[in-house]
Amino acid sequence: MLFYRCMNIGVWGDMSEGKFLEEKIRTSIAKNAEWIGVIMSPSTNTLLNVELMETAYDRGVVGNPCIVEFVQDGSLTCALGQITSIELKNPHIERHPIQKILSVRGEANPLTKQHDTRRIEISVSAVYSVDRDKVRPTTMGSVPPTGTRVYLLTQEILNALMEPHKEEIFYIGKIYNTNILLPMIFKHFGSSDDGRGLGEAYHLGVFGKTGSGKSYLAKMLVIAYARHPEMSIIVIDPQGEFSREIRQRRVLNEVLKERLKRKVEVYPTVKISLTNHETLKRLLIISGFLDKMGVRTRENQEIAAEIIVDFLKHPTRYESLSQFSTEISIKNAYTREVFDSVISVVRNNVGRIYVSEGPRQRVLTILDTRGEELYDEWRKITLLFSVKGKSTIDDIVHRLVEEKAIIFVDLSEQSAGNIFWNEKVQGLILNDIVNTLKDVGNEKFKDNEQLNTLVVIDEAHRFAPREKPEELELEELRMNFVDAVRTTRKYGLGWMFISQTIASLHPELINQMRVYFFGYGLSWGVELRALREILGGGGNDNHLELYRSFRDPQSSAILGKKEHPFMVFGPVSPLSVSGAPLFTVTLEYEDEFLKANKFS
Ligand SMILES: Nc1ncnc2c1ncn2[C@@H]1O[C@H](COP(=O)(O)OP(=O)(O)OP(=O)(O)O)[C@@H](O)[C@H]1O
Ligand SMILES: [Mg+2]
Repeated sequence: MLFYRCMNIGVWGDMSEGKFLEEKIRTSIAKNAEWIGVIMSPSTNTLLNVELMETAYDRGVVGNPCIVEFVQDGSLTCALGQITSIELKNPHIERHPIQKILSVRGEANPLTKQHDTRRIEISVSAVYSVDRDKVRPTTMGSVPPTGTRVYLLTQEILNALMEPHKEEIFYIGKIYNTNILLPMIFKHFGSSDDGRGLGEAYHLGVFGKTGSGKSYLAKMLVIAYARHPEMSIIVIDPQGEFSREIRQRRVLNEVLKERLKRKVEVYPTVKISLTNHETLKRLLIISGFLDKMGVRTRENQEIAAEIIVDFLKHPTRYESLSQFSTEISIKNAYTREVFDSVISVVRNNVGRIYVSEGPRQRVLTILDTRGEELYDEWRKITLLFSVKGKSTIDDIVHRLVEEKAIIFVDLSEQSAGNIFWNEKVQGLILNDIVNTLKDVGNEKFKDNEQLNTLVVIDEAHRFAPREKPEELELEELRMNFVDAVRTTRKYGLGWMFISQTIASLHPELINQMRVYFFGYGLSWGVELRALREILGGGGNDNHLELYRSFRDPQSSAILGKKEHPFMVFGPVSPLSVSGAPLFTVTLEYEDEFLKANKFS
């Protein structure tokens, strides 16, 4: 039976054979769609003023998607839009005497209620022209006449319209306030003949208060992009949340490995081998190791770190140390033998660190008396540079790019075992990763190749904050990100930043984004201002109002089902060809999401 299927998630409308799409869409609207209003005056090509039918007065229609069918340039044209506001009007009772009666009696029959009208505003988000079996996005170059019928969109109509794209469509949520799946298309960053690639990378942002569902959304987005076998993905996981899901063989693991047949690798901090001598220098300073050694000011610490690292780089220049049997290098720095040699080098060169006798003596005394304690600290730091059973960042990026692996870098505290760990260490490792990605991207670019890679960074506001951090290392990382978002798009390298606030992330990152997801909790003060700025010409006050009506997922949980709404802004849905923001409630991850995308 034509289009009779219920709103089964992910089921495309039942198409009877031999009919053109054009006819199917017409029939589908006539048979299934609820007629809720007619176009009124004034209306424009982007904003339709619609009189609500009396039969729909008791429906909660705000947020609902609608469809208008009309003829433009001789073709069947379907305008899709969203009801963004509703206004009650009753001109009779706006007159003073009637208002007075109302204020005394509470009603003024027969004027109250019976004469009410309701006007809705529909912001047009996409327009399609249907020509036999072809559906093409087009623009609204006319306005349908007043009296033209407006229908509520149904899953069936939408499926019929999206039929030509059905292979590409992916679902992460339902259209806000409805049971209709919001069709989305996530193209990969490479060029392709089949149209599945965009030919350039773009950056994405996922924002929302804690608990708004950002990480869950990001997992779904990772899966969306992982459907492209040509795409590589690296997830920087400062809390270990994504990596845990892989290790515990949960949904993310199942879908990536079993359904999509992707190569998935997790690298916890203990399995990452750093190689950069500069990084060790930084670590010796920021870890407090040199301070423990009695070297106090930053300036002196720089000198001491330089002596130590220079020794590890060029041990042969330090003749007197030929008695050591272990090879002296950064890789072996964690061994007791190398540590002992480092200590004697410092002892012999203490005059380069301090000219005056007092501080020199202080350092020498500490070296003599606190050797064990210092070694403990040294080992924790230098283990980051050991190589046994580990991969270097070069190796990891190589596997990412050449073997198209999906990689999770677990930088959580637990991932470091007994290696020295803090936020700055996270930052240093991340900095190495960003630099390596940039270098590899640049090399490929020179060879006319593209990385086609997405980098996902959870908790991005910590690594690329708006305010300049005091620590040199963190500032370097921050500026590195600013540079990366500006330069790497042409390498086919896109970034997805996940952040609890808009205002605390570096503005340049926000400016460079093309796709935004705004979860609950950005409705006030600086956040709202930032949101308004991002939407700019793309949205209007009604969109912002609708966003502000989002319920806190925590409180929606008290009332029953926990919902995670997002406003989506950017070219990732065929329903938003016009660039207006869309509203969605994410699918329940372990069930609805898998069903909708046919993973279960
Ligand atoms: N799509 C979803 N399906 C099922 N549960 C979800 C979904 N989105 C969020 N949740 C639930 O809400 C909780 C919070 O979501 P999530 O961890 O994604 O929030 P967050 O925005 O990343 O928070 P934080 O900023 O604290 O990391 C999750 O632990 C999960 O229980
Ligand atoms: Mg999170």
